[in-house]
Amino acid sequence: MKTFSRTPVFRPKATGTDMAPRAELPIATGTAADFIPPRPSLRTLREAARLCRGCKLWTVGTQTVFGEGPARARVMIVGEQPGDQEDKEGHPFVGPAGALLNAALEEAGIDRSAVYVTNAVKHFKWARGDKSKRRIHKKPNDGEIRACRPWLDQEMKLVQPEVVVCLGATAAQALLGKTFRVTKSRGQKVSAPFAEAVFATVHPSSILRAPDAKSREEARRAFVADLKKVSRFLGGGEREVRRNAQRGD
Ligand code: URA
Ligand code: SF4
Repeated sequence: MKTFSRTPVFRPKATGTDMAPRAELPIATGTAADFIPPRPSLRTLREAARLCRGCKLWTVGTQTVFGEGPARARVMIVGEQPGDQEDKEGHPFVGPAGALLNAALEEAGIDRSAVYVTNAVKHFKWARGDKSKRRIHKKPNDGEIRACRPWLDQEMKLVQPEVVVCLGATAAQALLGKTFRVTKSRGQKVSAPFAEAVFATVHPSSILRAPDAKSREEARRAFVADLKKVSRFLGGGEREVRRNAQRGD
């Protein structure tokens, strides 16, 4: 990790909303760690993340989409990166994948409002499609995932979730290692140093991309089945998770 304390020129002023690049600032410092405030709270972390230039994706996405949810959520759900709609609105999982996730959580007996939702990468990476004006999602690369990781580490440290649920290979491999295979180990409780239990399952976007209604429904059921295992681990599902939401801030 670079120590930017010795090179104060790289420290952006966390004041005002002027995001225009300043001549003396590099396009990216290489790690979000350079932007993490001392003794952060979720609020100050979120605020600081708005000005992150840990990797070049701040020039690609509209805004930083930080995690959201109760400060003491028992469950943290980690996706890949914000999508088109999340990028515009500035909130995680508010688009089609989020709608599918919400419905699946409900079916599995987990109250979404009691869950902290976030992403492995906090800016939307996209490219203009050849034939359309649509912004096409692009997978974040290893360098971008690594650069953004300090935000996620801080979120986990502050929220201290009992269970972390990784949605898709990007989140799962970021947290469980590059050799982790969602196809092989989905729905299984995995141990990790940052939570009592970690579960990985597919990304809801992969369900939306299924070629036909039948395979989509099969994929959706399998996704719900994985989330039910999380619910069971929490012991009693919805009631307890909801109690946590009331306790949380
Ligand atoms: N997909 C993700 O991985 N995260 C979001 O926030 C939205 C879609
Ligand atoms: Fe910073 Fe992450 Fe955005 Fe890169 S993707 S600029 S590391 S918040």
